[in-house]
Amino acid sequence: MKTTPRPAHAAKLRTLVAGITLFAASTPAALMAADLEAGKASAALCVACHQADGTGMAVPNGEPWPALAGMDAGYLLKQLQDFKAGARTNASMQPFAQMLNDEQMRNVAAYYASLPPRAGTPSQASAELLAHGEKLALRGDWDRYVVACVSCHGPGNGGVGSDFPRIAGQLPEYIKAQLIAYRDGSRANDPIDLMSAIAQRMTDHDIEAVSAWLGTQSAPNSSRN
Ligand code: HEC
Ligand code: HEC
Repeated sequence: MKTTPRPAHAAKLRTLVAGITLFAASTPAALMAADLEAGKASAALCVACHQADGTGMAVPNGEPWPALAGMDAGYLLKQLQDFKAGARTNASMQPFAQMLNDEQMRNVAAYYASLPPRAGTPSQASAELLAHGEKLALRGDWDRYVVACVSCHGPGNGGVGSDFPRIAGQLPEYIKAQLIAYRDGSRANDPIDLMSAIAQRMTDHDIEAVSAWLGTQSAPNSSRN
């Protein structure tokens, strides 16, 4: 993993903090007119992977299918648009995004947002690993400029608006895969690179720990915050 000198870290951190203020202002007004019944009909295409209740699934040695239920509709819509446009790449997911027009995307995003979020699930990880994950998630590690997840992802890591997704209760396998993808640059659709800046400072141990701990957490439905 490459290391950056500290002054660069400090500059990046100022960008992060500026980004938080900038992001919080967006309003997905288009989502208000969404048709949940139509969204549910489109979700027939998605259930094989994301499951009927939208809580996703991880199969051993397979690619994790993330939970979408209870995530913010504007966030889900952006990800669908990014997959369709190729700004976010994934061989399993992109063909399905490409099947949807703008209206279908809005409706299916609103439908998943309306479902109860995946509840936190007990972890097999050691108490030590979970304690390290909890520390990173709630307090961060300022000596290494690893910013606490909760400072952006909101109370309980349940998400804030359309820009900071809910990560509490998400499948640990998926969280881990995304952190690795942000770190190595294979996921680069974060508008101002907030996540890659953080993931680049995380060790494999950090990623394992924070993913395991977040998967055990439940938080209120972000779409109703
Ligand atoms: C063949 C399995 C499969 C099907 C079917 C599928 N997806 Fe996905 N989806 C995935 C995978 C795998 C990912 C994670 C991709 C990655 O790692 O970047 C994903 C990610 C997503 C995300 C991003 C979630 C996040 O938290 O960022 C959204 C939104 C999404 N899918 C919506 C849908 C919708 C809507 C449909 C149906 C129209 C659908 N998916 C059908 C496999 C699938
Ligand atoms: C400075 C703000 C900020 C901090 C701190 C932060 N994140 Fe994020 N995170 C974001 C933003 C913004 C996105 C959405 C990027 C996008 O739109 O693709 C995101 C996305 C994610 C995703 C992808 C979610 C999904 O559904 O695909 C994961 C996983 C994630 N963050 C984990 C973490 C973890 C773990 C921490 C703490 C170690 C953390 N984040 C700290 C801003 C932040």
